[in-house]
Amino acid sequence: MTDDGLPHADLGASWRAGRPRPAGRHLDSAASSRQSNRALEAAAHHARHEAELGGYVAEAAADDLLQQGRSVIGGLAGMAAADVAFVESAQAALVALLTGWRLPAGSRVGCLPGEYAPNVAQMRTYALRPEPLPVDGLGRLDLSGLARLLAADPPRFVHLTHIGSHRGLLQPAAEAAALCREAGVHFVLDAAQSLGHADADLGADVVYGTSRKWLAGPRGVGVLCVRPSLAAALTPVLPEPEGVPPMRAFESGEAHVAGRVGLVVAVGDHLAAGPHRVRERLSALGRATRELLDGVGGWRVVEPVDEPTATTTLRPPDGVDVVATRARLLTEHGIVASAIGPERAPGEMTGPVLRVSPHLDATIEDLEALAAAL
Ligand SMILES: Cc1ncc(COP(=O)(O)O)c(C=O)c1O
Repeated sequence: MTDDGLPHADLGASWRAGRPRPAGRHLDSAASSRQSNRALEAAAHHARHEAELGGYVAEAAADDLLQQGRSVIGGLAGMAAADVAFVESAQAALVALLTGWRLPAGSRVGCLPGEYAPNVAQMRTYALRPEPLPVDGLGRLDLSGLARLLAADPPRFVHLTHIGSHRGLLQPAAEAAALCREAGVHFVLDAAQSLGHADADLGADVVYGTSRKWLAGPRGVGVLCVRPSLAAALTPVLPEPEGVPPMRAFESGEAHVAGRVGLVVAVGDHLAAGPHRVRERLSALGRATRELLDGVGGWRVVEPVDEPTATTTLRPPDGVDVVATRARLLTEHGIVASAIGPERAPGEMTGPVLRVSPHLDATIEDLEALAAAL
């Protein structure tokens, strides 16, 4: 611990030192993080290679690096390099999965009532029927309820969003994965908000996520990890050539390869920092955020104070507009946060919230500045 009360001060310092100086106070990693100089330079270097060598020659030259990237990303999800496909976003990962799975129309999918609305929309596009999983009053999965559902009337698969976009709750994914495995029901984990933030190596059949949030890679890159038993049941639009792992068929041929290179470097930085240490500091930042902000100016924190995440959401006092507050924080105080409307998770949200999501480099002073501005 250090004198600001947060563990692993060295991580905060190295994060700050390894990035461009922020123009203000960035408390918005649940939207999109700040990339490191190393990740930025690696992506720029690859783009330069494309200009020098030609895009396809440069891609072939980056092949080993990309394969190492698949390996370490797979490691975060408890899978191997062959199980990993680079895609363009978390949404693109879900689309790739559902395209390949080809489930019969009307198949039921167990989802949280607070499921991320675009995920629900994608499932409906594939004629699937999302049905609410049992939860407690805060939206946390009720494991005994899940066990009963799996025993009585199991859905075709369970889709769990590990940490919400609209609420910084960490769902009990390891326990849910174990229950699903016992029941023979596939378990899909949306790790868009948890890769780089929480442990995602929990026994899921599918883990998908995105580069730009807690892994702090470039925008426009995502990952889809599928265990071989399920991957074997997927049918891609076009088969991959012989000798290439089947999941490679889900990578788009035309892609922002420089972005993939940047992500690989960002994931390497994450591993070098020590995922356990990262999680401890992020959880401590979440706790500090909640302690500092709850009740300030009438704003109320939604999450339990010691929820082990860095994401905090705040309900506004009566008559205060969250979108206008978010804009005021940015223009008058240089504070970057997000306004989340109820359309983000209409099955659970009753009104808008202000989302505050500091990454490792945030300071208590940043959080105090936000408290003062609110
Ligand atoms: C929980 C969750 N799932 C999925 C997504 C979609 O991610 P992407 O924008 O990379 O498609 C997000 C993005 O905010 C998210 O928060």
